[in-house]
Amino acid sequence: MIIEPRMRGFICLTAHPKGCEQNVKNQIKYVKSKGKIDGPKRVLVVGASTGFGLASRITSAFGSDAATIGVFFEKEPAPGKTATPGWYNSAAFEVEAHNAGLYAKSVNGDAFSKEVKEQVINMIKEDLGQIDLVIYSLASPVRMHPETGVLYRSTLKPIGQTFTNKTVDFHTGNVSQVSIDPATEEDIANTVVVMGGEDWKMWMDALKNANVLAEGATTVAYSYIGPEVTEAVYRKGTIGRAKDHLEATAFEITDALKDINGKGYVSVNKALVTQASSAIPVIPLYISLLYKIMKEKGIHEGCIEQIQRLYADRLYSGGEVPVDEKGRIRIDDWEMREDVQSQIATLWGESTTENLVEIGDLAGYKQDFLNLFGFGFEGVDYNADTNEMVMIPSIS
Ligand code: NAI
Ligand code: NA
Repeated sequence: MIIEPRMRGFICLTAHPKGCEQNVKNQIKYVKSKGKIDGPKRVLVVGASTGFGLASRITSAFGSDAATIGVFFEKEPAPGKTATPGWYNSAAFEVEAHNAGLYAKSVNGDAFSKEVKEQVINMIKEDLGQIDLVIYSLASPVRMHPETGVLYRSTLKPIGQTFTNKTVDFHTGNVSQVSIDPATEEDIANTVVVMGGEDWKMWMDALKNANVLAEGATTVAYSYIGPEVTEAVYRKGTIGRAKDHLEATAFEITDALKDINGKGYVSVNKALVTQASSAIPVIPLYISLLYKIMKEKGIHEGCIEQIQRLYADRLYSGGEVPVDEKGRIRIDDWEMREDVQSQIATLWGESTTENLVEIGDLAGYKQDFLNLFGFGFEGVDYNADTNEMVMIPSIS
């Protein structure tokens, strides 16, 4: 079939298998160009199919020759109906990994469930024995609690008062005011249940109890801080409470892994266009200004550049892992640079529908958004008849 993007709000209903494959190949090429990392050999990535998790799987495999198990929740294709991009990304990743002689298997299911944890543990026991690194990179709006069966929903709301600020509809470029009502106590608690650290800890406990964590095993989850303009809806909002909980969980995990000299870290990453971040109000406007400034300064990074740097310069640089005063790894250091943020503060006030094309990088935002679904890649013939029924080797 001929596959075209079909946009609906913050998502695209179609995905292009060849474009997703190109995306994966580009990321592999980047990681290889940076040379070998003296890193982990057996890696589990939870949330491995898109965004930071996919970049983590690619960096592990092609930077450090690691065997990888990837967990994700994606929709498979049906005749005439494309899969979700993470499905095609994972299919392409496995093919590339297998061609390079690397072990790669995937589990498509609900990572919050006990069943998926058990399935992964059995896979580790059968194939790898133990794991050296667990990357926890889930982004989900809902979580079915494994003990109670209750379905929790996360929200993106300010706490305490209504938040009003600018935002942009990145499809149209229209800059407008958005007002978001404050969260209830229940909203806060639910968001912490979905995006906080409880499930991360459950994964680490399950892996430890099954004796499938190697001596010195490390685990990393991803967090975000960001600028003042997004603070009310992000870091000081409901999602920020979940990130506080996630960050506190890193210390609990380090404690629980003491006898195997294991470590839990949170890495604070840069704001990037992913399926998760496009849905957060205000963030797309911030990102389009940020991209423009960081590209001008030659310090712009995507997910793969961020994670390659996380491995090479932080986790596996040979020395102590550098952390901030709260124990967090910081690869948002370039985003948070004083010269970058002071320019954001100025441009934020000035930005309008009329001037955003010039003072912001709306084109870059749109390009990245299309890329998430496998569209807009050079070297892909989008007019060609394309097989949508691409399967993941280890799953089908
Ligand atoms: P993403 O939406 O690209 O990736 C989410 C991943 O989780 C996908 O692999 C998806 O299949 C998987 N997933 C979702 N629900 C699942 C479930 N129930 N079971 C199994 N897998 C499931 O998101 P992104 O942006 O890569 O986010 C990953 C982490 O990085 C999140 O914790 C996010 O807060 C954090 N982060 C994101 C930033 C951004 O600007 N995008 C910045 C800093 C941190
Ligand atoms: Na991810």
